[in-house]
Amino acid sequence: MLKMSDVLDEKNKILREKSLEVTFPLNDKQKQTVKEIIEFLTNSQIPELAEKYDLRPGMGLAPIQLGIKERYFVVVHEYDEGKFDNYVIFNPKLVSNSEEIIYVGEGEGCLSVNREVCGIVPRYARVTLEGYDQDGNKIRIRGREELAVAFQHELDHLDGILFTDKIDPKDPFKNKDLYREI
Ligand code: NI
Repeated sequence: MLKMSDVLDEKNKILREKSLEVTFPLNDKQKQTVKEIIEFLTNSQIPELAEKYDLRPGMGLAPIQLGIKERYFVVVHEYDEGKFDNYVIFNPKLVSNSEEIIYVGEGEGCLSVNREVCGIVPRYARVTLEGYDQDGNKIRIRGREELAVAFQHELDHLDGILFTDKIDPKDPFKNKDLYREI
């Protein structure tokens, strides 16, 4: 079972590395890691379990945050109270996006960033990604609103980018009125 201490902190330079394309079929260890990430993210969003296992809530994780330089991510989205959808996408690419830009009003969070960071991170309101599922089948997934934000946040991790990079420290709420708050 993954623990909070398995997640690398923002100070760790590995987080700045680019993750590498994954080849199929996945081996047992890779499949096990995917399962563990899903379990970790799900538990972290269920308050009793988050407390029991001492987890900060998070909806997404890229393996680079565990020091594994593989190009995929996992998002566990609570679409209704206590109900979760899992998204696991390998070698993902952004293939289309809305013109509209949104930002998370309370600020984005990241399991690797253990502090409050205020400021606007502009994200597309809707995105379509293409990639592969765990069996190597080509898939196309759409996300809107917070799910779209999560996808873009995780895609950035695969290129060594953290959400904090996108906030201007001198003017964290720059251009606020150009975007829609969610
Ligand atoms: Ni993150």
